[in-house]
Order: sequence, then structure tokens, then C-alpha cells
Amino acid sequence: MASFLNSKRIVFQCMILVLSITCSCLHASEPPLTLDYYKSTCPTVLDIVKKEMECAVLSDPRNAALILRLHFHDCFVQGCDGSVLLDDTITLQGEKKAPENLHALKGFRIIDRIKNRLESECPETVSCADILTIAARDAVLLVGGPYWDVPLGRKDSKTAGYELTEANIPKANDGLLSIISKFIYQGLSVTDMVALSGSHTIGMARCVNFRERIYGDFTATTGMNPLSQKRLSSLSSVCSPDSKSDQNVSALDYVTPNLFDNSYYHILLKGEGLINSDQELYSSVLAVETKRLVQKYAENAIAFFEQFSESMVKLGNITNPETHANGEVRKNCRFVNT
Ligand code: HEM
Ligand SMILES: *[C@@H]1O[C@H](CO)[C@@H](O)[C@H](O)[C@H]1NC(C)=O
Ligand SMILES: *[C@@H]1O[C@H](CO)[C@@H](O)[C@H](O)[C@H]1NC(C)=O
Repeated sequence: MASFLNSKRIVFQCMILVLSITCSCLHASEPPLTLDYYKSTCPTVLDIVKKEMECAVLSDPRNAALILRLHFHDCFVQGCDGSVLLDDTITLQGEKKAPENLHALKGFRIIDRIKNRLESECPETVSCADILTIAARDAVLLVGGPYWDVPLGRKDSKTAGYELTEANIPKANDGLLSIISKFIYQGLSVTDMVALSGSHTIGMARCVNFRERIYGDFTATTGMNPLSQKRLSSLSSVCSPDSKSDQNVSALDYVTPNLFDNSYYHILLKGEGLINSDQELYSSVLAVETKRLVQKYAENAIAFFEQFSESMVKLGNITNPETHANGEVRKNCRFVNT
């Protein structure tokens, strides 16, 4: 199995290599992302984002999770280009109402607030895609996670990808191979996938996304131990078998729901992962490499933080060359400039 995945990965990586060679020839003038992109045009950008994120996370730690997830959903659809932030208009179908995003994405007003402040400080300079990337880093840091430097210089898209959202965003009940292939498709590795899934150490999921899991193999993966049975009954009281409780929520990491730590992986070791895709990393019969990584990050929080930081830079680096060449800096993150 592992060697099958490896060869599949190598094929994909070669494809990506070939593509990126072609792309860099076509768009040779497009500069890569850099750490000092706004050094002369908006030197206070990092301070402003940080201040606003401090207020947002202080008022509700869930806001950290909302912004982190927004960034992920942005980058997996057309690259990190702020496409997820666009509202529906007569001429544009946004991504917000795509089934995987509807009722699931929040935090847009936090981005609006940061954008407003930046527009008065340095008008028409900082892209919404960059704001979201910096805000996601600050979000993680503010709830106890690692720091990493954020390469900047993204452009905002003039289009959104409603259908691509359905195709690219991993779903709660996707199997392990499906999830792996969605990450490989973006140029991310199995290791990136396991580390980035550690984001589920914060935030909430709705019952509609974990009902199949708790009425499915939850008891089996926990080995029927009494504490896990208690956990299961408390989940069942929030999430009834009927659809009335669809929008009821539970913490993805019930041990330390507002702390960015490695307890998500400890929960997987106990077989108590809240959504199917989480527990699959450890319990799937196909989980060889992913199981080893879950064990490693459970044992070693520093190794998790280091890999998470590295993988977040890779996530933030996903680029659609088309957007990058034809993109803009939006004045309002919800609308393409007129
Ligand atoms: C590996 C595949 C993944 C799957 C299948 C998945 C799926 C989900 C689902 C179903 C939810 C609950 C949403 C809801 O019920 O409203 C969720 C929440 C969340 N996801 Fe993921 N996710 C994945 C990877 C990621 C990655 C890579 C990140 C960030 C880099 C991330 C960040 C989050 C966060 C922070 C939340 C909590 C959001 C909140 O509190 O509203 N996820 N995810
Ligand atoms: C939603 O969760 C609450 C507990 O948090 C529970 O009392 C209520 O019955 C749930 N709603 C449904 C429709 O199951
Ligand atoms: C980011 O992407 C560019 C090509 O788009 C690539 O040259 C560079 O190595 C990538 N950097 C990282 C850290 O993945």
C-alpha cells in the first residue's frame, strides 16, 4: 500500500514539476512571495492584522478557528486568492453557498474589519488573500500554537470557484485515500495532510458532520472503554439521529477546545476522533504512514509544531498562475473592483 501511494505521489509530483516549469516560463515576470513584500508600501501591515486578531480572539477564541479554516478553504480553491471571501452578485457566483461552505464558514466580518483599517492606512495595497494568510498565522499563535514567517505578495482573484469547492474541499466522510489525493492534487504531501489536520485541535463541528461517525464506528474505534462510552453518550445528547440537531455543535478537540496543542492526536490514539476523516488517519486499515505520523505528533508536540509551520507555508503557497498574473488588490474583500 505504502509503495503504491509513494509511486502515485511521485507521478503526481512529476506532473506538478512539469507544470511548474511550464508555468514559470509563461509567467517569468511574476515574482514569488517574499517576506518583505509590503516593507516600503505598508510597513505596519503585520501590526494592524495582529491587533485586530488579538481583539477578535480575545472576544471569542472560536474566531481563531474560523479564520484558520477560511484560509484553508481559500487556498484549496483556485489557490490562495481571496476567492472564498467574495459575495454572490448578479454576475458572480461566490463559494460561500457551495454545500461544503454553507453554514460552515464564518469570520468574514473580522476580515472586513482588518481590510477597513488597512485601506485607511495604506489604500489599495494589501491583498485580501495576504490578509487572510497573516490572520491565520496570528490566529494560531494567539491560541498557543507556533509562529512562522508569512511570505506575502498574493493577488486577489476576479472569479470564484463554486464547483471547484465541491470537488477540492475534503469532506467529513471522505475516506483516507480520497483525502490524501485531494492534498496531493494541491502539491501537498501525506505528511502535510496529517500535520494540517492538527488544526482540528481547535474549533467546532456541526452534528451533520459527525452523526455518521458517532452512530457508526465510534464504539469500535474506541475499543468500548467506559470513558469513551461516556464521551459517546454526551455526543449523542447533542447530536440526535434525526436531522433536527444538524446545526448543533461539538468541539473537535473536547479536551482543550480553545488551545492549539497536540491533544487532537491523543484523541485519535484513544479512537475518539469526532469526524470520520480524523479517525481514519489512525484507524483506517490503509493508515500505515498516517498512523505513524499521528503517533509521532502525539508523542512530540515540538515535532508537530515544526511540521505544522512548514506545512502552513506550503498551504499558503498554493497559487493559480492565472490569478497571480491577472489578479488585483481588492478594495473590499467581498467584491471584485469595478
Ligand atoms: C484533512 C481533511 C479535512 C477535513 C475532511 C476537514 C473537515 C472539517 C469539518 C467537517 C469541519 C466541521 C465544519 C462544520 O461542521 O461546520 C472542520 C472544521 C475545521 N477545520 Fe477542517 N477538515 C480538514 C482539514 C483541515 C485543514 C487542513 C485545516 C486548516 C489548515 C482545517 C481547519 C479546520 C478548523 C479550524 C475547523 C473548526 C472551524 C470552526 O470552529 O467553525 N481543517 N473541518
Ligand atoms: C442541541 O444540543 C442541546 C445541548 O447542547 C440539546 O439540549 C438539544 O436537544 C440539541 N438539539 C437537538 C435538536 O437535538
Ligand atoms: C512556492 O511556490 C513556488 C512556485 O510557485 C516554488 O518555487 C517555491 O519553492 C514554493 N515554496 C514553498 C515553501 O513551497
